[in-house]
Formats: sequence, structure tokens, C-alpha cells
Amino acid sequence: MEHFHFHRSIFFLWILFVIVVEKVSIAEGMGVNWGTRASHPLPPDIVVKLLKENGFNKVKLFEADPGALKALGRSGIQVMVGIPNDMLASLASTVRAAEEWVQQNVSSFISKNGVDIRYVAVGNEPFLKAYKDTFIKTTLPALENVQAALIKAGLGRQVKITVPINADVYKTDSGVPSGGNFRSDIHNLMMKIVKFLSDNGGPLTINIYPFLSLYADPHFPIDFAFFSGSSSPVVDGSITYNNVFEANYDTLVWALEKNGFGSMPIIVGEIGWPTDGDANANIEYARKFNQGLLDRISRGIGTPKRPTPPDIYIFGLVDEDAKSIEPGNFERHWGVFAFDGAIKYQLDLGNNRSLTSAKGVRYLARKWCVMAPEANVMDPSLPESINYACSYADCTSLGYGSSCGGLDVKSNASYAFNMYYQTMNQQKGSCERFHNLSVITTIDPSPSSSGRGNSSSCRFEIMIDVGRHQSRANPGTSSATKIKHFSLVFFVLAFVVDYYMSLP
Ligand SMILES: *[C@@H]1O[C@H](CO)[C@@H](O)[C@H](O)[C@H]1NC(C)=O
Ligand SMILES: *[C@@H]1O[C@H](CO)[C@@H](O)[C@H](O)[C@H]1NC(C)=O
Ligand SMILES: *[C@@H]1O[C@H](CO)[C@@H](O)[C@H](O)[C@H]1NC(C)=O
Ligand SMILES: *[C@@H]1O[C@H](CO)[C@@H](O)[C@H](O)[C@H]1NC(C)=O
Ligand SMILES: *[C@@H]1O[C@H](CO)[C@@H](O)[C@H](O)[C@H]1NC(C)=O
Repeated sequence: MEHFHFHRSIFFLWILFVIVVEKVSIAEGMGVNWGTRASHPLPPDIVVKLLKENGFNKVKLFEADPGALKALGRSGIQVMVGIPNDMLASLASTVRAAEEWVQQNVSSFISKNGVDIRYVAVGNEPFLKAYKDTFIKTTLPALENVQAALIKAGLGRQVKITVPINADVYKTDSGVPSGGNFRSDIHNLMMKIVKFLSDNGGPLTINIYPFLSLYADPHFPIDFAFFSGSSSPVVDGSITYNNVFEANYDTLVWALEKNGFGSMPIIVGEIGWPTDGDANANIEYARKFNQGLLDRISRGIGTPKRPTPPDIYIFGLVDEDAKSIEPGNFERHWGVFAFDGAIKYQLDLGNNRSLTSAKGVRYLARKWCVMAPEANVMDPSLPESINYACSYADCTSLGYGSSCGGLDVKSNASYAFNMYYQTMNQQKGSCERFHNLSVITTIDPSPSSSGRGNSSSCRFEIMIDVGRHQSRANPGTSSATKIKHFSLVFFVLAFVVDYYMSLP
């Protein structure tokens, strides 16, 4: 009997220990968007390690990318899987289509790969004004069908549905959050969606971009975009708003409250700051914004209307050089990390931890394609050559106010030629397309040698060698999980020993 008490106390110690391990990982919890619109995407297993090493325990995918999902299996990371807008029509058409989608893109990854899928995001900002009314008729039926399919698959409790909406679905006529309500043209539809989500335990997901407020309006008070106080706060009754994030979020809370959904859970699905492609898209501002955001997350700060902090998914993890630049050149530079998982700027993650770069990335050879020394900048075929290069490769860093915006004509051409050469995987002949104006060099042509950690300087990249990255096995189990498993084994052993020792 003595022994039994001894081992029971070990059992309680184990429980305590598991709780502590669990708490620590929750306190460090941050979400991030993992977009894959890149010409040379990082291999999924490297991305999953990058997520884990930097304390991201939630990830949002824009589609059910099989490579990403497999790598996320048994990683300890919670997953939100997106459904692109162009699939809404077919999912809205029949429940059968939704069942097939859930079976192939959710159920199988949960059961076969052990992916911890928590949410399915139906559509992505479907009511954005720019889309006109394209997805007005299909979003709700698709949502209903996916929900029915999840229930049929036995996942009704485990996997919740949501719709990520752009902040332009609500507005305030009085200019302060308490005037918040949904846009009149989609008010009824939003109410139906909110009610359906609410009935099924799903949150509303909202994307908030203070950078875009600034981009759209040059008179926007810049300090109101950040989290460190503002000289032009918004006063709403007894509440003073010092940053646009809180004001925007609370405008939604007011809109929900006014329509009878005051306690509707909200997730911030996208929020971040780009580092290039616009004068206000730079390292300094991105660092300032994301650090302010992380501080709020680690200190558990909510908003004046909602003291409970929402789940937040930063946008985004890495730069994506194949994204549409219709919204602006900054669109390809939202990453906290560069395209290759390298740190762009340092962030304090709390608990004295800082960001860590991706490991094990394989690059193409150390060579660049640049304008030949003897080539003439007045050569009539130069503009056409640059245009050609930039129509296939990402030249968004060359724009006015961007990181390579200050180059002379020759370096400017070199940058374009090199981006083309790298994007074409340094293929034979790809540096010879420019009317003999270009040449291959093994000397880094980047104008600043300050290197990584300072991307405010212009860098001539070398691309990831996608071919040399073979698909590898799943990354290891998270250390917290390992410790829990270890202590469980220990407990069972102790119990068995105890049992035999207590036999007469
Ligand atoms: C998901 O499932 C459907 C079947 O309904 C399939 O056509 C589709 O390609 C799958 N993948 C993604 C990323 O949605
Ligand atoms: C953080 O780490 C540095 C060295 O790694 C140490 O000098 C410093 O005291 C630490 N700060 C805290 C608050 O733990
Ligand atoms: C550099 O190239 C870009 C892209 O073609 C072009 O827009 C820009 O005007 C060029 N700048 C200079 C200084 O040549
Ligand atoms: C490039 O130079 C070679 C010889 O140096 C010449 O034969 C060829 O025609 C040139 N190509 C172009 C497109 O100017
Ligand atoms: C980054 O590089 C720029 C230009 O070379 C320089 O002015 C700036 O001080 C550097 N910043 C850091 C943090 O090293």
C-alpha cells in the first residue's frame, strides 16, 4: 500500500508536468499564414520546422495543399484549411461535391496523416468589393454544404467552419467604432452567414490591414497604424483608440452586437506588414508593426470592447514571388521571413527568444546573371530585354521607394536579368536571351554587402534549388509531445512495478 501511494504521487506529478508543458506551448501560441504562391517554394518539411522553431503553433493554408498537409501531420501544429473562391460554385452546387472535398482534403489527412485540422475556411474574402458580386450567391450554400459534409464525416465537433472576410464588409458612418454595422448591400447575407456560423459553433474570421489603410490614404495618420500610441487617437464615448487595429476590430464587434451576435467568436485571419514594394513597405515599419502585434499576443491583450484576445494569424510566413501584384508591388513581400526562410528583421518572441532562420535550404549555384561590363546602357534593345525579364520574374523590388529602387541603369538591368536567370533555375541559355547584353558572374553583384538581417538593402538573390529537395519523411514529433510520451511510459512502468510489488 505504501508503494501505491508513492506511485500515485508520481502520477499526479506527471499530470502537473503535462499541464505545465501544455500551458507553456499555449502561452507561446501564435498563428501564421503559409502561402505557397512562389516560383521556388520552400520544401514543406523545412517550413514545418521553421514554424516549430519559431513558436508558431497555428497555421492557415489557403488551400488543401497535399505537401503542406502531409508535412504538418503529427507536428503539434493546429491547421486552418482554406477553400479558394473559385471552388465555391462547385461546392455550393451539391452536398455530394462538398462531401468529396471533405473526404479528400480533410478526413484523409486527419486519419492517415494525423493532421490537427481545426478549421475549414470557406472562401477567402469573397465579398471584397473588387470581386463585384461574383461570390455573393455561392458562399453561403458552399458553407452549408461543407458543414453538412463535416458532420457526415464525423468531424462536426473537431473541425469548425469559418469564412474569412475582408474588413470592408463592415463600416461605420459616424467614423467611430460604435457606429459599426455591416455594409448595407450585403447586410442580410452577412446576417445569414453569421447566424449559420453561430449555430454551428464556427467563428467569424476577419482580415485587418493597417498598412492598406495607409496605402489607400496618404493622409492616414501613420502612428495610428502602429501600436505605440497616436497623436491623433479616435475618441468613441469613454473609449480612446490609439491604433487602427483596435478601432477596426471593435467596429466589427459593434456590428455583431447591434445585430444580436455580441458574443460571436472572432479570429484575426490575416494581419501583417510588407517589407518592400512601396515607400511605406519597409523593414523598419514591418518590424515595428509585427513586434507590437507579438507583444499584444504574448501579453494576452484584447481590445476595449473585447478584453479576451482573439486568435491571430500573421500574414505571412514567407515572401511569395508569384502572387498577383494587382493590389500593388508590396503584395510579394509580406513575409516575416524572406522567400527562403531567412530572417528579414529580428523580432522578440517573448521569454528572451528571437526568430530563427530556416535550416537545410539548398540553393542553386553561387552565380548571377548581370549586364555585361562592355554593354552600352543606351543599347536600343535594353528596355525590351528588361521588360522581357520582368514579365517572367519578380522585379517588384525595383520600383520607386523599394529596396532596389535607387540602382543606376546598369545595376537595374542586372537585377532584372538576374531575377530572370534565377527564376529559370539558372538554366543553360537563360542568361543569353538579352541580345548579348548580359553575362554570368560568380561575384555577388548585390550593391550592399550588409547581407542578411538587413534587407532594406538591395539583394541579388540566388533561388532555392527545388530539384535538390527531395520529398522527405515527416519532421519529428514536437518536443513537448515527446516529453509527454516519455513521462506516460514512465508512469505506466511505475504503475506496473507498483502492481507487482503490492502482490502478496
Ligand atoms: C480537394 O478535393 C477535390 C475533390 O472534391 C479535388 O478535386 C481537389 O483537387 C482537392 N484539393 C484541393 C487543394 O482542394
Ligand atoms: C536574455 O538573454 C541574454 C543573453 O542571451 C541575457 O544576457 C539576458 O539577461 C536575457 N534576458 C532576460 C530577460 O532573460
Ligand atoms: C529599372 O527597371 C524597372 C523595371 O523595368 C523600371 O521600371 C525602372 O524605371 C528602371 N529604373 C532605372 C533607373 O533604369
Ligand atoms: C551575340 O554575339 C554573337 C557574337 O559575339 C553574334 O554572333 C550574335 O549574333 C549576337 N546575338 C545578338 C542577339 O545580338
Ligand atoms: C541596413 O543597411 C542600410 C544601407 O546599407 C544602412 O543604412 C542601415 O543602417 C542598415 N541597418 C542595419 C540595422 O544594419
